[in-house]
Amino acid sequence: MCGIVAYVGHRQAYPVILKGLKRLEYRGYDSAGIALLSDGLKLFKKKGKVAGLEDSLVGENVQGHIGIGHTRWATHGEPSDRNAHPHRSASGKLAMIHNGIIENYGQLKQELLNKGYSFTSDTDTEVLLHFIDDIRENNKCSLEEAIRIALKRVVGAYVIVIVDTESPDTLIAARKGSPLVIGIGKGEHFLASDASPIIEYTKEVVYVNDYELAIIRPDELILKNLGNETLTPFVQKLDLELAAIEKGGYEHFMLKEIFEQPHTIYDCLRGRLELSESKIIMSGVEQHLEQLKNAKRIIMVACGTSWHAGLVAEYIFEELCRVPVEVEYASEFRYRNPIVGPGDVIIAISQSGETADTLVAIEKAKEQGALIFGVLNVVGSSIARISHGGAYTHAGPEIGVASTKAFTAQLAVLTMIALKLGREKGTIDNDRYQRLLTELSLIPEKVQTVLEQAENINSLARKYAQATDFLFLGRGYNFPVALEGALKLKEISYIHAEGYPAAEMKHGPIALVDDTLPVVFVATKDPYHEKIVSNIQEIKARKGKVIAVISEGDETIPQMADDVMYVPACDEILAPMLNVIPLQLLSYYTGVHKGLDVDKPRNLAKSVTVE
Ligand code: M6R
Repeated sequence: MCGIVAYVGHRQAYPVILKGLKRLEYRGYDSAGIALLSDGLKLFKKKGKVAGLEDSLVGENVQGHIGIGHTRWATHGEPSDRNAHPHRSASGKLAMIHNGIIENYGQLKQELLNKGYSFTSDTDTEVLLHFIDDIRENNKCSLEEAIRIALKRVVGAYVIVIVDTESPDTLIAARKGSPLVIGIGKGEHFLASDASPIIEYTKEVVYVNDYELAIIRPDELILKNLGNETLTPFVQKLDLELAAIEKGGYEHFMLKEIFEQPHTIYDCLRGRLELSESKIIMSGVEQHLEQLKNAKRIIMVACGTSWHAGLVAEYIFEELCRVPVEVEYASEFRYRNPIVGPGDVIIAISQSGETADTLVAIEKAKEQGALIFGVLNVVGSSIARISHGGAYTHAGPEIGVASTKAFTAQLAVLTMIALKLGREKGTIDNDRYQRLLTELSLIPEKVQTVLEQAENINSLARKYAQATDFLFLGRGYNFPVALEGALKLKEISYIHAEGYPAAEMKHGPIALVDDTLPVVFVATKDPYHEKIVSNIQEIKARKGKVIAVISEGDETIPQMADDVMYVPACDEILAPMLNVIPLQLLSYYTGVHKGLDVDKPRNLAKSVTVE
């Protein structure tokens, strides 16, 4: 978690860093801070969002051509000014920002306490900084050497960036397990957790790998490994436009991203779904076709919304490919000594490609001989690098903390993989295959139809915004959609919500039903439609308020539900891509009616790079 930005070059560093931090705020917004080096080393830190830091700096001297900035998602130590980064070393010469966790910080801290160090924060970051400073002061070595020695003792994940009063034109950065991109300009360099703070200045970037150290000056970039060998930086061209990371007239990123879905799904299908040839072309699948086709078992590993996509995919793969599928929370899978090995295929689903639990879970499965196949949005992310192969979702940058367009793009990619494998294996009959291909190609326009009801859903959200609890129910393919609806509402509106398989509600949740409880049914036409109609009646008999997502043309449910949201008819396998849209809008508008910051819900961060 946390976002980092740093700059060295001919511009004023402060505006570059401030703007960059605003772009990275999705990674954490518990506190923000900046260190600038000009007439000495100045640190500015503030609890809360970057805008608060900016306000507090009006009238301050923020001059300087080199600086580092940080936006924090707290791990060690509560969100506060004193725990905000950057931290300053005991010698006063160094300032450091850090993204990650130093797992053995307790032991290092004790060693430093024994040497007489004192600490001004509760963070693991300050411990690492004092440790580096101590090595440099005692060994009389360069900062670079001190960092190398220190990092060999460190257990955990980090990106660190340090400024040093003894080398006022140099930034030193190192990475293990957290992302770091360097932007190369003319007489200037930029560092950041992702490319969004860099994009408007340069498209030439270098992605730093684990165990690498970068020494950066305005005109020089030196990359080394921890063994002090010089490496050749691999310069890549950024495939990202500024418009993709700006709000483009929408009030929030979340709304923009919900409305982007007809395009993102289309982009995801484009060049892959070849209707004229009845083919799905996915080079990532083709490269590992034999292993995928012959998989003994597929294990979907993911967290949060991506895990919900995995649940939908379980139904799809079992149906179309007749292969056993398990869906695992990465955080449980990694600690469970799972039985996994050659012949198993792990599909790692992640928007960011940086989620720590997913990353470690697949590393473990890879060591045990499984094929790792990533379904990821962020190109070149950590999970992408360690996967054997994969397919990108091409949804573009997702900035809102709540995942929306990434989810539907994940479903589109997973559906195409299942269709392709089912076809190869002969487990899907030709008619169904053709029909699904055609229906899949129509999903973008059907999503557009759902979005046209945004104003109705807005009114509905206003009606229920004061509820304290919600239940979300669905059957079959719509059960994971119900889970996703509940998660979205919780994170955006802070209303307690639970998702359940509709039939399971009789085994407990029905006890919650009274005339104050809104129950959202995802009840589009599918083979269990009559069953879910009965479940709706059971809720109505207990005076619950029923809000239902239903298929256009359904004449039964509107007679019993309090409110309905319509989606166009489609095959049940593809329905989750449509049915989730009204639930995304319901959460968004509920959060807005409650006056909440929907793009940055409290306590959350976009990519969870800590366990
Ligand atoms: O980047 P990932 O897809 O790996 O992230 C997984 C979860 O952290 C993420 O889906 C989270 O649950 C979102 N806030 C949901 O909206």
